[in-house]
Amino acid sequence: MSDQQEQASGPHNLTKDGPMVFVKHLTEYEKYRPGYSEKGVEMVLEEIMLPKETSSSSLKYEILELGAGSGKLTELVAPKIPPGYRYRATDISGDFIEILKSKSLPVETATVNASNIPLPDNSVQNILCASCLHWFCDDESLKEIHRVLVPGGKLISLSYYEQFFDEPWLIEIYNQWAETRELLGHSLLTDVYSSNFVELKPMDACSFFTAVRRECIPGKGIPPGLDFVLNYLNTISLYVYLSDDVREAFFSRLKQKVVTYPGVNPENMTIPFVDHFDVFLAK
Ligand SMILES: C[S@@+](CC[C@H](N)C(=O)[O-])C[C@H]1O[C@@H](n2cnc3c(N)ncnc32)[C@H](O)[C@@H]1O
Repeated sequence: MSDQQEQASGPHNLTKDGPMVFVKHLTEYEKYRPGYSEKGVEMVLEEIMLPKETSSSSLKYEILELGAGSGKLTELVAPKIPPGYRYRATDISGDFIEILKSKSLPVETATVNASNIPLPDNSVQNILCASCLHWFCDDESLKEIHRVLVPGGKLISLSYYEQFFDEPWLIEIYNQWAETRELLGHSLLTDVYSSNFVELKPMDACSFFTAVRRECIPGKGIPPGLDFVLNYLNTISLYVYLSDDVREAFFSRLKQKVVTYPGVNPENMTIPFVDHFDVFLAK
Protein backbone atom coordinates (compact mmCIF):
# COMPACT_ATOMS: atom_id res chain seq x y z
CA MET A 1 0.00 0.00 0.00
CA SER A 2 1.40 3.43 -0.92
CA ASP A 3 1.70 6.24 1.64
CA GLN A 4 -1.11 8.00 -0.13
CA GLN A 5 -3.40 5.00 0.20
CA GLU A 6 -2.54 4.56 3.86
CA GLN A 7 -3.29 8.17 4.48
CA ALA A 8 -6.64 7.91 2.75
CA SER A 9 -7.86 4.58 4.05
CA GLY A 10 -6.32 4.46 7.54
CA PRO A 11 -8.38 7.01 9.42
CA HIS A 12 -11.56 6.38 7.45
CA ASN A 13 -12.95 3.32 9.10
CA LEU A 14 -16.45 4.67 8.78
CA THR A 15 -19.16 3.10 10.81
CA LYS A 16 -21.77 5.00 12.77
CA ASP A 17 -20.10 8.37 12.19
CA GLY A 18 -20.32 8.01 8.41
CA PRO A 19 -23.16 10.48 7.86
CA MET A 20 -21.49 13.19 9.96
CA VAL A 21 -19.08 13.69 7.07
CA PHE A 22 -21.28 16.47 5.71
CA VAL A 23 -20.66 18.78 8.65
CA LYS A 24 -17.10 19.33 7.48
CA HIS A 25 -18.43 21.44 4.63
CA LEU A 26 -21.67 22.95 5.89
CA THR A 27 -21.45 26.29 4.09
CA GLU A 28 -20.29 24.72 0.84
CA TYR A 29 -23.01 22.11 1.13
CA GLU A 30 -25.69 24.78 1.35
CA LYS A 31 -24.17 26.73 -1.54
CA TYR A 32 -23.20 24.05 -4.05
CA ARG A 33 -25.70 21.22 -3.63
CA PRO A 34 -28.72 21.30 -5.94
CA GLY A 35 -32.22 21.97 -4.67
CA TYR A 36 -35.34 20.31 -6.03
CA SER A 37 -37.48 21.02 -9.10
CA GLU A 38 -41.02 22.45 -8.90
CA LYS A 39 -42.29 19.14 -10.25
CA GLY A 40 -40.54 17.21 -7.46
CA VAL A 41 -42.00 19.50 -4.79
CA GLU A 42 -45.45 19.21 -6.40
CA MET A 43 -45.24 15.40 -6.27
CA VAL A 44 -44.27 15.47 -2.60
CA LEU A 45 -47.16 17.82 -1.77
CA GLU A 46 -49.58 15.71 -3.77
CA GLU A 47 -48.69 12.61 -1.73
CA ILE A 48 -48.75 14.42 1.59
CA MET A 49 -52.12 16.01 0.90
CA LEU A 50 -53.92 12.95 -0.48
CA PRO A 51 -56.81 12.01 1.82
CA LYS A 52 -55.57 9.78 4.62
CA GLU A 53 -56.42 6.10 4.27
CA THR A 54 -56.34 5.59 7.99
CA SER A 55 -56.47 7.88 10.97
CA SER A 56 -54.96 7.33 14.36
CA SER A 57 -55.81 8.97 17.66
CA SER A 58 -52.10 8.81 18.53
CA LEU A 59 -51.13 10.99 15.52
CA LYS A 60 -48.61 13.71 16.44
CA TYR A 61 -47.22 14.82 13.07
CA GLU A 62 -48.57 14.86 9.53
CA ILE A 63 -44.94 15.11 8.33
CA LEU A 64 -41.71 13.94 9.90
CA GLU A 65 -38.70 14.75 7.74
CA LEU A 66 -35.60 12.65 8.40
CA GLY A 67 -32.14 13.63 7.14
CA ALA A 68 -33.43 17.13 6.36
CA GLY A 69 -29.88 18.52 6.35
CA SER A 70 -29.81 22.27 5.86
CA GLY A 71 -33.45 22.15 4.72
CA LYS A 72 -33.10 22.25 0.94
CA LEU A 73 -36.39 20.41 0.46
CA THR A 74 -37.95 21.62 3.72
CA GLU A 75 -37.75 25.25 2.57
CA LEU A 76 -39.65 24.41 -0.61
CA VAL A 77 -42.32 22.17 0.95
CA ALA A 78 -43.02 23.74 4.35
CA PRO A 79 -44.37 27.11 3.09
CA LYS A 80 -46.91 25.24 0.94
CA ILE A 81 -48.29 22.96 3.63
CA PRO A 82 -51.88 23.78 4.64
CA PRO A 83 -52.49 25.23 8.11
CA GLY A 84 -53.02 22.57 10.74
CA TYR A 85 -50.38 20.20 9.34
CA ARG A 86 -47.73 19.48 11.95
CA TYR A 87 -44.27 19.26 10.34
CA ARG A 88 -41.13 18.20 12.22
CA ALA A 89 -37.85 18.50 10.32
CA THR A 90 -34.92 16.52 11.73
CA ASP A 91 -31.37 15.43 11.00
CA ILE A 92 -28.70 13.38 12.74
CA SER A 93 -26.45 16.46 12.64
CA GLY A 94 -27.22 19.24 15.09
CA ASP A 95 -25.07 21.60 12.97
CA PHE A 96 -27.32 21.08 9.98
CA ILE A 97 -30.38 21.65 12.19
CA GLU A 98 -28.93 25.03 13.24
CA ILE A 99 -28.77 26.10 9.56
CA LEU A 100 -32.29 24.82 9.02
CA LYS A 101 -33.55 26.75 12.07
CA SER A 102 -31.98 29.95 10.73
CA LYS A 103 -34.34 29.73 7.74
CA SER A 104 -37.31 30.39 10.09
CA LEU A 105 -39.61 27.88 8.42
CA PRO A 106 -43.01 26.87 9.81
CA VAL A 107 -41.63 23.57 11.15
CA GLU A 108 -40.50 22.13 14.46
CA THR A 109 -36.90 20.96 14.44
CA ALA A 110 -34.93 18.29 16.30
CA THR A 111 -31.70 16.30 16.07
CA VAL A 112 -32.77 12.73 15.32
CA ASN A 113 -31.05 9.56 14.18
CA ALA A 114 -33.34 7.57 11.87
CA SER A 115 -32.44 4.40 13.74
CA ASN A 116 -33.79 5.80 17.02
CA ILE A 117 -36.72 8.14 16.51
CA PRO A 118 -37.93 9.66 19.79
CA LEU A 119 -41.64 9.43 18.97
CA PRO A 120 -44.36 6.98 20.03
CA ASP A 121 -45.61 4.13 17.84
CA ASN A 122 -48.16 5.08 15.16
CA SER A 123 -47.63 8.81 15.60
CA VAL A 124 -46.64 10.02 12.10
CA GLN A 125 -48.68 10.13 8.89
CA ASN A 126 -45.85 10.74 6.39
CA ILE A 127 -42.08 10.40 6.63
CA LEU A 128 -40.20 12.51 4.13
CA CYS A 129 -36.61 11.82 3.05
CA ALA A 130 -34.73 14.02 0.57
CA SER A 131 -31.52 12.54 -0.85
CA CYS A 132 -30.88 10.71 2.41
CA LEU A 133 -32.78 7.41 2.58
CA HIS A 134 -29.74 5.63 1.10
CA TRP A 135 -27.86 6.58 4.29
CA PHE A 136 -30.20 4.64 6.55
CA CYS A 137 -31.92 2.16 4.26
CA ASP A 138 -31.13 -0.68 6.65
CA ASP A 139 -33.17 -3.07 8.79
CA GLU A 140 -32.73 -1.10 12.01
CA SER A 141 -33.91 2.24 10.63
CA LEU A 142 -36.63 0.80 8.40
CA LYS A 143 -38.09 -0.99 11.42
CA GLU A 144 -38.00 2.28 13.37
CA ILE A 145 -39.59 4.24 10.52
CA HIS A 146 -42.31 1.61 10.29
CA ARG A 147 -42.88 1.75 14.06
CA VAL A 148 -43.59 5.49 14.16
CA LEU A 149 -45.73 5.54 11.00
CA VAL A 150 -49.46 4.94 11.34
CA PRO A 151 -50.61 1.82 9.46
CA GLY A 152 -51.00 2.89 5.85
CA GLY A 153 -48.69 5.86 6.49
CA LYS A 154 -46.16 6.78 3.81
CA LEU A 155 -42.42 6.85 3.46
CA ILE A 156 -41.79 9.41 0.71
CA SER A 157 -38.34 9.75 -0.82
CA LEU A 158 -37.11 12.34 -3.34
CA SER A 159 -33.43 12.02 -4.26
CA TYR A 160 -31.15 13.50 -6.87
CA TYR A 161 -28.67 11.31 -8.71
CA GLU A 162 -25.87 12.45 -10.98
CA GLN A 163 -25.88 10.99 -14.48
CA PHE A 164 -22.28 10.24 -15.30
CA PHE A 165 -22.85 8.45 -18.60
CA ASP A 166 -23.33 10.73 -21.57
CA GLU A 167 -19.99 12.49 -21.99
CA PRO A 168 -16.42 11.22 -21.70
CA TRP A 169 -15.60 13.91 -19.10
CA LEU A 170 -18.53 12.75 -16.95
CA ILE A 171 -17.33 9.16 -17.22
CA GLU A 172 -13.93 10.45 -16.09
CA ILE A 173 -15.55 11.70 -12.87
CA TYR A 174 -17.40 8.42 -12.43
CA ASN A 175 -14.17 6.47 -12.80
CA GLN A 176 -12.49 8.69 -10.27
CA TRP A 177 -15.30 7.94 -7.80
CA ALA A 178 -14.61 4.24 -8.27
CA GLU A 179 -10.96 4.91 -7.46
CA THR A 180 -11.95 6.94 -4.40
CA ARG A 181 -14.16 4.10 -3.18
CA GLU A 182 -11.30 1.68 -3.45
CA LEU A 183 -9.01 3.99 -1.49
CA LEU A 184 -11.55 4.30 1.30
CA GLY A 185 -12.06 0.56 1.63
CA HIS A 186 -15.31 -1.03 2.76
CA SER A 187 -17.44 1.15 5.03
CA LEU A 188 -20.90 2.54 5.49
CA LEU A 189 -19.94 5.24 3.04
CA THR A 190 -18.98 2.85 0.28
CA ASP A 191 -22.14 0.83 0.96
CA VAL A 192 -24.08 4.02 0.48
CA TYR A 193 -22.44 4.41 -2.91
CA SER A 194 -22.96 0.81 -3.96
CA SER A 195 -25.84 0.16 -6.31
CA ASN A 196 -27.79 -1.52 -3.50
CA PHE A 197 -28.17 1.67 -1.58
CA VAL A 198 -28.28 4.07 -4.47
CA GLU A 199 -31.21 2.23 -6.02
CA LEU A 200 -32.78 1.78 -2.56
CA LYS A 201 -32.65 -1.95 -3.29
CA PRO A 202 -33.13 -2.90 0.39
CA MET A 203 -36.68 -1.50 0.07
CA ASP A 204 -37.57 -4.29 -2.38
CA ALA A 205 -36.77 -6.93 0.20
CA CYS A 206 -38.29 -5.05 3.14
CA SER A 207 -41.42 -6.74 4.43
CA PHE A 208 -42.70 -3.62 6.24
CA PHE A 209 -43.40 -1.56 3.15
CA THR A 210 -45.02 -1.84 -0.28
CA ALA A 211 -43.76 0.39 -3.10
CA VAL A 212 -46.74 2.26 -4.54
CA ARG A 213 -45.05 4.88 -6.73
CA ARG A 214 -41.61 4.99 -8.33
CA GLU A 215 -40.85 7.67 -10.90
CA CYS A 216 -37.87 9.53 -12.33
CA ILE A 217 -38.03 13.20 -13.30
CA PRO A 218 -35.38 15.67 -14.52
CA GLY A 219 -33.51 17.09 -11.53
CA LYS A 220 -33.02 20.79 -10.83
CA GLY A 221 -29.27 20.36 -11.14
CA ILE A 222 -26.52 22.91 -10.62
CA PRO A 223 -25.52 26.00 -12.61
CA PRO A 224 -23.02 25.43 -15.47
CA GLY A 225 -19.27 25.96 -15.12
CA LEU A 226 -16.33 23.73 -14.25
CA ASP A 227 -15.73 25.64 -11.02
CA PHE A 228 -19.27 24.95 -9.84
CA VAL A 229 -18.93 21.29 -10.85
CA LEU A 230 -15.73 20.97 -8.80
CA ASN A 231 -17.23 22.83 -5.85
CA TYR A 232 -20.21 20.47 -6.01
CA LEU A 233 -17.94 17.43 -6.07
CA ASN A 234 -16.09 18.85 -3.11
CA THR A 235 -19.28 18.43 -1.02
CA ILE A 236 -19.66 14.76 -1.99
CA SER A 237 -18.95 12.49 0.94
CA LEU A 238 -16.61 10.25 -1.04
CA TYR A 239 -14.25 13.20 -1.51
CA VAL A 240 -14.87 14.81 1.85
CA TYR A 241 -13.54 11.72 3.60
CA LEU A 242 -10.23 11.83 1.77
CA SER A 243 -7.38 13.63 3.48
CA ASP A 244 -6.82 17.18 2.19
CA ASP A 245 -3.70 16.20 0.24
CA VAL A 246 -5.28 13.24 -1.47
CA ARG A 247 -8.43 15.19 -2.28
CA GLU A 248 -6.46 18.08 -3.76
CA ALA A 249 -4.44 15.66 -5.90
CA PHE A 250 -7.67 14.07 -7.15
CA PHE A 251 -9.19 17.42 -8.03
CA SER A 252 -6.14 18.81 -9.71
CA ARG A 253 -5.85 15.68 -11.88
CA LEU A 254 -9.56 15.83 -12.71
CA LYS A 255 -9.42 19.53 -13.55
CA GLN A 256 -6.54 19.00 -15.97
CA LYS A 257 -8.01 15.90 -17.56
CA VAL A 258 -11.67 16.84 -18.15
CA VAL A 259 -10.85 19.92 -20.22
CA THR A 260 -8.75 17.87 -22.64
CA TYR A 261 -11.79 16.14 -24.15
CA PRO A 262 -12.76 17.50 -27.58
CA GLY A 263 -15.62 20.00 -27.61
CA VAL A 264 -15.53 20.62 -23.87
CA ASN A 265 -16.07 24.25 -22.86
CA PRO A 266 -15.39 24.76 -19.12
CA GLU A 267 -18.02 27.50 -18.94
CA ASN A 268 -20.81 25.21 -20.14
CA MET A 269 -19.91 22.07 -18.26
CA THR A 270 -22.56 20.78 -15.93
CA ILE A 271 -23.63 17.49 -14.42
CA PRO A 272 -27.08 16.23 -15.48
CA PHE A 273 -29.26 15.13 -12.56
CA VAL A 274 -32.30 12.86 -12.38
CA ASP A 275 -34.57 12.88 -9.33
CA HIS A 276 -36.01 9.58 -8.14
CA PHE A 277 -39.40 9.82 -6.48
CA ASP A 278 -40.44 6.79 -4.42
CA VAL A 279 -43.46 6.26 -2.20
CA PHE A 280 -43.73 3.26 0.12
CA LEU A 281 -46.82 2.38 2.12
CA ALA A 282 -46.39 1.03 5.68
CA LYS A 283 -48.05 -2.38 5.90
C1 LIG B 1 -27.14 14.15 1.13
S1 LIG B 1 -27.68 14.85 2.63
C2 LIG B 1 -29.33 15.42 2.20
C3 LIG B 1 -29.76 16.58 3.07
C4 LIG B 1 -31.06 17.24 2.65
N1 LIG B 1 -32.19 16.37 2.83
C5 LIG B 1 -31.00 17.74 1.23
O1 LIG B 1 -31.85 17.39 0.43
O2 LIG B 1 -30.10 18.55 0.95
C6 LIG B 1 -28.00 13.44 3.65
C7 LIG B 1 -28.45 13.83 5.04
O3 LIG B 1 -28.78 12.66 5.76
C8 LIG B 1 -28.39 12.84 7.10
N2 LIG B 1 -28.30 11.52 7.72
C9 LIG B 1 -27.44 10.54 7.40
N3 LIG B 1 -27.65 9.47 8.17
C10 LIG B 1 -28.67 9.76 8.99
C11 LIG B 1 -29.35 9.05 10.00
N4 LIG B 1 -29.00 7.82 10.37
N5 LIG B 1 -30.40 9.64 10.63
C12 LIG B 1 -30.77 10.90 10.27
N6 LIG B 1 -30.15 11.64 9.32
C13 LIG B 1 -29.11 11.07 8.69
C14 LIG B 1 -27.06 13.59 6.98
O4 LIG B 1 -26.69 14.24 8.17
C15 LIG B 1 -27.37 14.55 5.85
O5 LIG B 1 -27.91 15.75 6.32
